[in-house]
Amino acid sequence: MTRKKAHLLGFIQHGVNSHATGMWRHPKDKVGWDYASPGYWQHMARTMERGLFDAMFIADELAPYNTHGNSSDLTVKYAVQCPTHEPSTIAPIITGATKHLGVGVTLSTAFEHPYSMARRLSSLDHLSGGRVAWNVVSSYSKSEWDAYGAEMSERGHRYERLEEYMELCYKLWNSWEPDAIIADKASGIYADPGKVHEVIHEGEFFKCRGRHFVAPSPQGQPVLWQAGSSDRGRDFAAKHAEAIFAVLPTVNRMRDYSRDLDQRVRERFGRKEGSVKLIFGVQTVVAETREEAQAKYERIKACIPLEGALAWMSGHFGLDFSKYDLDEYIQNIEVPGIQGLFESILYARDGAPVTIGEAAIIYAQGMGMPVLVGTPSDIADKLETFMDEGGADGFMLIATYTPGCFEEFVDLVVPELQRRGRYRNAYPGTTLRDNLLGD
Ligand SMILES: Cc1cc2nc3c(=O)[nH]c(=O)nc-3n(C[C@H](O)[C@H](O)[C@H](O)COP(=O)(O)O)c2cc1C
Repeated sequence: MTRKKAHLLGFIQHGVNSHATGMWRHPKDKVGWDYASPGYWQHMARTMERGLFDAMFIADELAPYNTHGNSSDLTVKYAVQCPTHEPSTIAPIITGATKHLGVGVTLSTAFEHPYSMARRLSSLDHLSGGRVAWNVVSSYSKSEWDAYGAEMSERGHRYERLEEYMELCYKLWNSWEPDAIIADKASGIYADPGKVHEVIHEGEFFKCRGRHFVAPSPQGQPVLWQAGSSDRGRDFAAKHAEAIFAVLPTVNRMRDYSRDLDQRVRERFGRKEGSVKLIFGVQTVVAETREEAQAKYERIKACIPLEGALAWMSGHFGLDFSKYDLDEYIQNIEVPGIQGLFESILYARDGAPVTIGEAAIIYAQGMGMPVLVGTPSDIADKLETFMDEGGADGFMLIATYTPGCFEEFVDLVVPELQRRGRYRNAYPGTTLRDNLLGD
């Protein structure tokens, strides 16, 4: 039996600090780099391409978290994913600096009409030669709705609207027939209007009458990514996505999740095997020796400010943790926010109780992802287990200090995975879809 090869993505934000809180203050973070300048992104992209990653995954929020103490003070004070620039603006910089690396941008459907979303993504797909993915989100955080002056809608409503949103995007992306463009200079006919279909949509949430403004892009539509984790969210992901992301702290949780998702993908939505990849989050701290790796890990943890951690947790879980005793157990609390990520801390110690204070630090370090600390061989062992026993098709590597954490992974872990036959030696295709769905 051939053992599957890992897919890799670098998980990051277009800002001063990605997910791991406090990393901007790490002595190795962005030494000589300015996160707001193209050079930093070009270097990071080339590093990931050197490591044959499928793509850079750019997460996003539309506004600073404001759930903790009903204020965004701590978010701003500790750079909790703040400041964060608009993600799609760096896509052409990343794909312009590389030939194969894809870029996945998180774009919220909450405040943008599907018509302009479809147009923007088609444009990016052209500019990248077919290397764009869209991480579909619908804004789960109150701060985003506050910033846009809107009343936050509940989860069920968001998913209903999202279904129709996708329906309209698909109509637009499929509205040009493959041979619609004639480009005959002699007659002056550029395109056959009979083959560029006007989209007429009258739905519950959206209306549209117009032709898609962009000719078919190399991938036809962006690769679709999703990370919904509620029951409804898992169905949405299983129906639409080509890569599904999850944060699962133990192999047992991974196995349960993979079985559930595989069943939804195949049985509920009748999609064929291999059309969806399950990508699990991991954080790695690698060095030549275990002692060195452990020392690095301690240095990383020392950067995390507890107050910033609580602000982040409050934002993601939609609960004001300023009102709680830090010694209270997280297991006794229910949250309205991202359920799947909350489970990552509920099960951080395989179900053993975790206090709010401990959970905040675990979460702020890497969103509850398994943290792999050790030599390249230690880390490759774990990744193999996650694939073979947990059902992972690949991994999104959450950043610590940048660009160093990706350089170290590419220099140390990638060759070890290749030596074991668990990672590609070249890109199999030219588009992101080819690479993601290929080996
Ligand atoms: C690994 C992972 C990454 C995510 N990244 C983002 C993100 O960048 N922006 C965002 O708005 N939501 C993000 N989410 C949230 C989900 O996509 C989803 O919107 C959220 O989980 C709410 O849906 P649910 O209730 O079905 O889980 C992420 C979730 C996970 C598990």
